[in-house]
Amino acid sequence: MAATPSGSRPRVVLGVSGGIAAYKACELLRRFTESGHDVTVVPTASALEFVGAPTWAALSGKPVASDVWSAVHEVPHVRIGQSADLVVVAPATADLLAKAAHGLADDLLTNTLLTARCPVVFAPAMHTEMWEHPATRANVATLRARGAIVIEPAEGRLTGADTGKGRLPEPGEIFELALEVLTRGAVAPDLAGRHVVVSAGGTREYLDPVRFLGNRSSGLQGYALARAAAARGAEVTLVAANVSLPDPAGVKVVRVETTDQLRAEVVTAAGSADVVVMAAAPADFRPTNVSDAKIKKAADGSSPSIELVQNPDILHEISTERARTGSVIVGFAAETGDETGSVLELARAKLARKGCDLLVVNDVSGGAVFGSPENEGVILGADGATIDVPRGSKGALAHVIWDQVAARLG
Ligand code: CTP
Repeated sequence: MAATPSGSRPRVVLGVSGGIAAYKACELLRRFTESGHDVTVVPTASALEFVGAPTWAALSGKPVASDVWSAVHEVPHVRIGQSADLVVVAPATADLLAKAAHGLADDLLTNTLLTARCPVVFAPAMHTEMWEHPATRANVATLRARGAIVIEPAEGRLTGADTGKGRLPEPGEIFELALEVLTRGAVAPDLAGRHVVVSAGGTREYLDPVRFLGNRSSGLQGYALARAAAARGAEVTLVAANVSLPDPAGVKVVRVETTDQLRAEVVTAAGSADVVVMAAAPADFRPTNVSDAKIKKAADGSSPSIELVQNPDILHEISTERARTGSVIVGFAAETGDETGSVLELARAKLARKGCDLLVVNDVSGGAVFGSPENEGVILGADGATIDVPRGSKGALAHVIWDQVAARLG
C-alpha cells in the first residue's frame, strides 16, 4: 500500500458508472480494501441497476449514495472529491466520459469529479462503436489533455455475442496502475507517440511434436512492462513466448513459441520501434534435429543423446545492427555470481558484450524471481549509470525502467 504524505490510509474513490462491467468493479474494490485502502464507492444510478448498493456498502464498509441528497449536512458532493487521494472510475461509460469532459455535475460521481484535485483514472468499457465514435474520441482527448489517465479498453468478448475493443481491463491491471499513480502522484504520458516493443516469456525448443526444452520464465515482468508502457501512452507490441496471462489492454500481442520465431517478430517490430525491451528468456540452444514423430524409448533401454546448436542472440543483433538511430534497447540479465566475478561484474561485462543501452540485472541465486509478483535489481546503463531498484512489484520495476528509457529518448 502506498502511504499518503500524512501517513494515513490512502483514500480512494471508486466511481462506478452504468455498464455491465460494473460487476468487475467488485473485485477491484476488494483489492483496494484488502490492501488497506480507505475506499468510498460512488456508483451512478445506472450502475445500481447492475450491482446494488448493499454490495458496494458491504464490500467497502461504508454507506453508498449515487445522488447528492443523502447526508446533505456532510456536503458529500464536495467533501468526497476534496478529501480523495485518488479517484478511479471503473467502468467509465461513454456517457460518464462525456459528462466528465464537459464538466456536467448532475449526480454525486460527476460532482466528485469536479471537486477532486487528486489524480483521476478512467477505465472505459463500452461497445467498440461507442469507443471509436468521434464524440468519445474527443472527450477522451479532452480528459487526457487535462491530465486524467484514460486507460485503453481491452479487446475481446463484449456484452452480446460480438467481440472488439471496449472491454474493461482486468481488475488486476487497473489496480496495479492505481497503486503506481498513488505512489508517484501521477503517471505521465511521457511515451506518447513512441512505439515500444517488449518481449516476454520463455521460448520452447522442440525435440519432437510433444517434447521441448524450455525455461521457468512466467512472462510477468514483460507483461508488467507492456502495461506500464501503454499507461504512459506508448503504442506497444508485446511479443509473448508461451505466456498464459491475459492480453494487456491496449497492447498488440504477437504470440511465438521458439527463439527463431521470437527473433523474426522482434527484428521486424524493431524496424519501427523507438524502444525494444528484451524481457523474454530465449533458449540459448535448440536441438539440431527436430523429430517429426514422437521419439520412442529404445528397446535395449539406451538413452537418446540430444545434439544442440546455438540460437541467435536477439539482443546482441538488434543492439549492434540498430534499425533506428536514437532507439533505446534494454536487456535483462538473470545472474548468479561465480568464481569469475560478482553478479554486478558479470552484468557489466554482459552489458558491454550485448551492446544494449540498459541492462536490468536480477540476482537469481536460488531461483527467487521466477513466477513471483515481485522483483528487485539494479539497472546498469552503458553511460555508466547504476540505479538500485528496491524490492517491489514487477509493475513498480517496470515504471522505473520506463523512467530510465524516457530520460534517454531525448
Ligand atoms: N537474449 C537474447 N537472445 C538469446 C538469449 C538471450 O536476446 N538467444 C537476451 C535476453 O532476452 C536478455 C539478455 O539477452 O535480455 C540476457 O540474457 P541471458 O540469458 O542472461 O544472456 P546470455 O547471452 O544467455 O548470457 P549467458 O552466457 O550468461 O547465458
